[in-house]
Amino acid sequence: MRVLITGGAGFIGSNFVHLVLAERPDWEVVNVDLLTYAGNLRSLESVLDHPRHRFVRADIADRDALVAELDGTFDLVINFAAESHVDRSIVDASAFVRTNVGGTQTLLDLARQGGWGRFLQVSTDEVYGSLGPEGFFTETTPIDPSSPYSASKAAADMFVLAAHRTHDMDVVVTRCSNNYGPYQFPEKLIPLMILSARDDQPLPVYGDGGNVRDWIHVEDHCRAVLAVAEGGKPGRVYNVGASSERENLEIVREILSLLDKPESLIRFVTDRPGHDRRYAIDSARIKDELGWTPARDLREALGDTVRWYLENEAWCEEVRSGEHENFFDRWYGGRLEADSE
Ligand code: NAD
Ligand code: TYD
Repeated sequence: MRVLITGGAGFIGSNFVHLVLAERPDWEVVNVDLLTYAGNLRSLESVLDHPRHRFVRADIADRDALVAELDGTFDLVINFAAESHVDRSIVDASAFVRTNVGGTQTLLDLARQGGWGRFLQVSTDEVYGSLGPEGFFTETTPIDPSSPYSASKAAADMFVLAAHRTHDMDVVVTRCSNNYGPYQFPEKLIPLMILSARDDQPLPVYGDGGNVRDWIHVEDHCRAVLAVAEGGKPGRVYNVGASSERENLEIVREILSLLDKPESLIRFVTDRPGHDRRYAIDSARIKDELGWTPARDLREALGDTVRWYLENEAWCEEVRSGEHENFFDRWYGGRLEADSE
């Protein structure tokens, strides 16, 4: 199996690369990532010289660069690469359109023209918009995105599904809820709150803190992606969630309690515009068709996550200072030197 993974230096992609190198001995992985501020090669340090892993720094929206860097064909493409932070998309959506829409379409074109195998698009429950206090997103819930981020992900999904209808491409789409776990960039709620609380800094809670997210541990998401890659039906969408709905304030309080820090660190701040009130996922399809089920309990796995951020201080300080962006040059420079000896 030759597998092209994009965005494999990001939070979920790096967890996925570690998982498949450990558990899929017949997979040869080519990992394409542009290493934006969110990409961190340090998260892949232990597998950079792995014989079945090749890292390529390239932009998925740059067709010429991909053609120059990628040789041969792929049995499977898994597209994790994206601009992923809602708040950044509110400030400037241009990179979201370029990468999330243009990059996905560029990969689809290459996959079709090169006769590559299955194309798995890693999408999000945010394409469905916001729920009221009742109900769940199913795969037939109408697409109704609220933010420029979710609009760009919804557009990408439409291109992927259209490639199935128009070109009979073998595509599958996963739509997962909010992830947490190791290697998440600390601009997202959980790692931001852990590191701020650790340092006795204020914890900014948007609005009244009553927005609900359906949290899933990243390893459960990665196993769902694997299940869909290996068994999903062509042209089909699979929702992924762990039925762990929590108000943001509950999550923040739980983190404070795990760190033994006072609730006086909480600061209610101006709400995010277009802030979706509630997400909740119905995962019946992936469970019934593919036998996937989440393994991690939120309370316990949140404790493990807090411990991971406390124990991996160097990783945290590098991403917070921006030093992680120099890691590629150091690693690549070292390789060139070794080659010339
Ligand atoms: P992330 O921001 O941590 O990582 C994204 C990765 O993509 C980074 O390594 C970045 O360098 C890379 N990238 C960005 N632009 C690129 C480009 N033009 N070319 C090549 N690489 C590029 O994101 P994440 O949280 O790991 O999310 C991964 C995927 O999962 C995204 O598609 C996201 O929409 C989706 N998703 C995320 C969540 C979540 O809770 N984090 C939930 C559901 C779905
Ligand atoms: P986030 O991690 O940005 O994920 P998403 O917006 O994709 O769901 O935010 C999760 C929730 O936490 C969301 O309701 C916004 C809220 N939030 C805060 O209250 N404060 C913060 O500083 C951040 C980053 C998020």
